[in-house]
Amino acid sequence: MTFPKVTVVGAGQVGATTAELLLLHGTADVVMVDVVEGVPQGKALDLMHLRSIERFGPSVRGTNDYSDTAGSDVVVITAGLPRKPGMTRDDLLAANSDIMRSVITQAVEASPEAVFVCVTNPLDIMTYLAWRESGLPHERVLGMGGVLDSARFAFAVAHHTGAPITEIDALAMGAHGDAMVPMPRFTTINDVPITDLLPAHEVDELVERTIHGGAEVVALLKSGSAFYAPAGSIVAMVRAILGDTGALLPSCVRLTGEYGIDDVYLSVPARLGAGGVQSVPELPLNDAELEALQSSARTVAASLDAIGLRA
Ligand code: APR
Repeated sequence: MTFPKVTVVGAGQVGATTAELLLLHGTADVVMVDVVEGVPQGKALDLMHLRSIERFGPSVRGTNDYSDTAGSDVVVITAGLPRKPGMTRDDLLAANSDIMRSVITQAVEASPEAVFVCVTNPLDIMTYLAWRESGLPHERVLGMGGVLDSARFAFAVAHHTGAPITEIDALAMGAHGDAMVPMPRFTTINDVPITDLLPAHEVDELVERTIHGGAEVVALLKSGSAFYAPAGSIVAMVRAILGDTGALLPSCVRLTGEYGIDDVYLSVPARLGAGGVQSVPELPLNDAELEALQSSARTVAASLDAIGLRA
């Protein structure tokens, strides 16, 4: 049986967990690339030892050489530094920009037809940078932020209300950071918006917990940042792309006028399938929600302009 090919750049916490989930789901053959010699090879070997226990079909290899990644269908980029306690995602900007530039150039050369899913923080800036450097159509360069933020919102709602996680649908849009825009009116328990179920101050607390969900993990871990839920979020996106499902997943995409926002990458619900982003159907936001999203976009745009990334 042949499988699609997915390259995961960065064999750290997020990258290796992504590889593991891709294998366990039987989604794709995986190539892990890292700058550190031995680490991707060692983790790949460990995962191949798992194969006879879990009985998964696809295989994984580790490498330091992009020629091994050639012809990938999807490339996931997790290379870069994670946050330490007290750091914002923006504190990673300078170091991770250099890493992203080097990675995207080599990865696109090896797999010019691939869809690229960026994960490295600060996400909205790094995804824009990857798109600019790649020279690819923006539909083929996207970022993982909204799926994770929405999952954190769902957790906050479940934890607060006791409702089963399976009955909750949550949505967070906007920047993957402090300017995130969780959407309570589009967050439901059994299809009933939480704005109809909870007092406003409780909704506000859940929104705050969602925005700081990643920092909560960082503070507890003390070294490194979250990786289980990020990896699961990546894999949900990769499966939609490879399966050409058209699933509507909150994804960091380049907006070109949707919601009155132009030339900024940030998370909005987007249909994912073959070729990456297939469409960005606009949600019927009310005035306050639209203003919050546009304000989030202005924050991202200001960061892009501060480093001279936009034309
Ligand atoms: N090319 C390939 N891999 C690289 C490069 C590079 N130029 N530079 C660094 N790496 C690798 C590191 O060697 C390390 O193995 O990226 C990996 C990052 O792994 P971790 O330090 O464990 O970080 P992780 O928790 O996986 O987070 C990675 O995702 O969520 C974001 O903020 C997070 O930006 C960070 C990224």
